[in-house]
This record gives sequence, structure tokens and C-alpha cells, in this order.
Amino acid sequence: MQEIKSLDITKEEMEYLLLKYKSALKTLETHLNILISDYEFKNKYMPVEHVKSRIKTFESAINKLKRKNYPVNIENIEKYINDMVGIRIVCSFLDDVYKIKNLIKNSKFINVIDEKDYIKNPKGTGYSSYHLLVNVPVYLSDGLHLIEAEIQIRTIAMDFWASLDHKIQYKFEQKIPKDIVSEMYNCSVDINNLDNKMLELNEEVQHFLHTDTNEKE
Ligand code: GTP
Ligand code: MG
Repeated sequence: MQEIKSLDITKEEMEYLLLKYKSALKTLETHLNILISDYEFKNKYMPVEHVKSRIKTFESAINKLKRKNYPVNIENIEKYINDMVGIRIVCSFLDDVYKIKNLIKNSKFINVIDEKDYIKNPKGTGYSSYHLLVNVPVYLSDGLHLIEAEIQIRTIAMDFWASLDHKIQYKFEQKIPKDIVSEMYNCSVDINNLDNKMLELNEEVQHFLHTDTNEKE
């Protein structure tokens, strides 16, 4: 906070921006919960394990602007930091990630402005996830505001990997020992294989369940 005080951002500006981000997060969470419940009802299947959300702190937004060499002000936070509002949807199986992604892309309420498939094309670290950048409509007293949000969709196994990776990055900052980097990469390959095996097993289980029910009828 000490650092923020010396920058070109007033407390009032920050509080109003935070109000907009909180409103966007509530709107997005509600809409996603509705879409997921509707999917569960129609398919008698719940593809989501859990949903987590957060608003990025102004401290880390400011650090990100500095890293990207942009002047630190409210306009640039709104313009260049597109993950101030973030939601993570953790799914059971690999194909569930794509089901959820399609569900969101087909929604008329939120507009997908960019998508990155780090599952088909993992990052160099081994990171895999499906990212959607969306516009969330928020109606305030002066009219419609479109607020950007980042939705990360991944399996429990990918989430397991990413959470350790996050701790490692935090602990070592830019200087992660080479053997840890390569071990983490190897783990990401194992995790991808495991996700594929679990998907196959689940398909087999579903097949058995389905034939079992049909026989009973
Ligand atoms: P940013 O400037 O960081 O927003 O980069 P970008 O716009 O190219 O976004 P990208 O899709 O690469 O990643 C955005 C988010 O994905 C990050 O804020 C992290 O939450 C997550 N992420 C990306 N790469 C990694 C990684 O190697 N490890 C972990 N744990 N998370 C990652
Ligand atoms: Mg980003």
C-alpha cells in the first residue's frame, strides 16, 4: 500500500475500479453457476469439481504494468491488465474441459474475445490449461460497462501441477534451479498421460454403467 500512495492513482479511483471488478466477478460467477447447473440437469452429469475466483491485488497489477514498461495509472490497469477478474474452473476429466469451454463460448451473455489452448500446446514450463478471455456485461447507474475477465479451465491433475509450480515460482522468483525446471516438465508429461488414461477409464466405466442400466430396463 505504501508503494501505491506514491503513484498516480487516487484512493477514490481505486475504490471505484474495485467496485466494477467485484460486480463483474459476481455477475460472471452467477452466470457460470447457472450454465453449469443447466448442463448438469440436461446431461445428468456434473463435469466440474470446483470453481475458484479472485480479484488481482492492485500491488500485483502495478508490478505487472512496471514489468511491461507501462506508466502506472488507472487507465493502463483497465487497458493492459486483462486478468484483474479471474475465475478457475477445475474439471474431472480432460473432455470436461472442452465441454465447459464450449458451454461458455456458446453463451450469448458473455463475449469470448480470445482463447488459448495450452492443453494442445502446453507452455515451455509444461503448464497446461484452457484460457478464455471474456467481456462481462455490468450495468451500473451510468449504463453498460464491459469488464474483461480471464477464465482458466483445467483438470484436477493440471491444477495439482500448476499449484506446485506457482509455489516454486514464488519461492525462487526468476532463479529456479535447472533440475527443478526439468523435473516439473517431466511431471507435466506424466500428468498429461495420466489425464488421458483416466479419460479412457472413465469412458469404459460410463459404457459399463450404460449397458448395465439398459439390461435392467
Ligand atoms: P500475462 O502477462 O501473464 O497475463 O501473460 P499472457 O497474457 O500471455 O497470459 P497467459 O495466458 O500466458 O497466462 C496467464 C495466466 O496463466 C497467469 O497469470 C497464470 O495464472 C497462468 N500461467 C501461465 N503460465 C504459467 C506457468 O508456467 N505456471 C503456472 N503455475 N501458471 C501459469
Ligand atoms: Mg494475461
